[in-house]
Amino acid sequence: MIRIAATGDIHFDRKSHNRMGQHMLDLEGKADIFLLAGDLTQTGHPEEMRVLANDLRKSPIPVIAVLGNHDYHVDQVEVVTQILKDAGVIVLERSSIIISINGEKVGIAGAKGFGGGFIGSSGADFGEPQMKSFMRHSKGEARQLEQVIKDLESDYKIVLLHYSPTTQTLSGEKKEIYPFLGCYYLAEAVDYGKADIVFHGHAHAGIEKGKTPGGTPVRNVAQPVIRHAFNIYTLERRDVISHPSETHQSS
Ligand SMILES: [Fe+2]
Ligand SMILES: [Fe+2]
Repeated sequence: MIRIAATGDIHFDRKSHNRMGQHMLDLEGKADIFLLAGDLTQTGHPEEMRVLANDLRKSPIPVIAVLGNHDYHVDQVEVVTQILKDAGVIVLERSSIIISINGEKVGIAGAKGFGGGFIGSSGADFGEPQMKSFMRHSKGEARQLEQVIKDLESDYKIVLLHYSPTTQTLSGEKKEIYPFLGCYYLAEAVDYGKADIVFHGHAHAGIEKGKTPGGTPVRNVAQPVIRHAFNIYTLERRDVISHPSETHQSS
């Protein structure tokens, strides 16, 4: 069994000093890995990420993160990624890491993902170049992620996203903005890659639990949804129990 602490959409700004510091120390003995599902900052400014990095470097367990759309806003992605790496955080973007926990290999594939919409109401790779570009970008990101998931040779396959792979965890959001909250291509990546569970953020007004069309459990861990500093999820070996159980970790 592995214990996964997860959160997202913490949206640090320059004044967020030590907002997560004590929570990092509280992870000791409670979880094996800590996942961050993007929107770590308000605008992606390096100063904001430095404030967060000061907290994350206190973590007693490996921290694995993807960036969100907010972290891209001021176009400093390489700089803020390096700030996280310098604090010991593993930053994934259509890439993966395998961490050994109690003798088991835990694979985490991560990507920001993108919008595009869901079956029956998605965008299409048709018409104006801008629309083609939007949907091709979304599809390309997801297809690359799918290969990363497939290539994982591990006992567990965890997928970490910012955008959602399903509408189920978007319930509560305005339906008009679903195409900007996620894309069905991501669900295809997760299902064809045979992932065990997916964590995402971005949908602040959504709900925590859902599944992909292929039945992969999905958890929206955006902080406004889970209403705690983080949640802790336990995952059993997939040949014993195929679904995770959760215990809520109060902050
Ligand atoms: Fe957010
Ligand atoms: Fe977001």
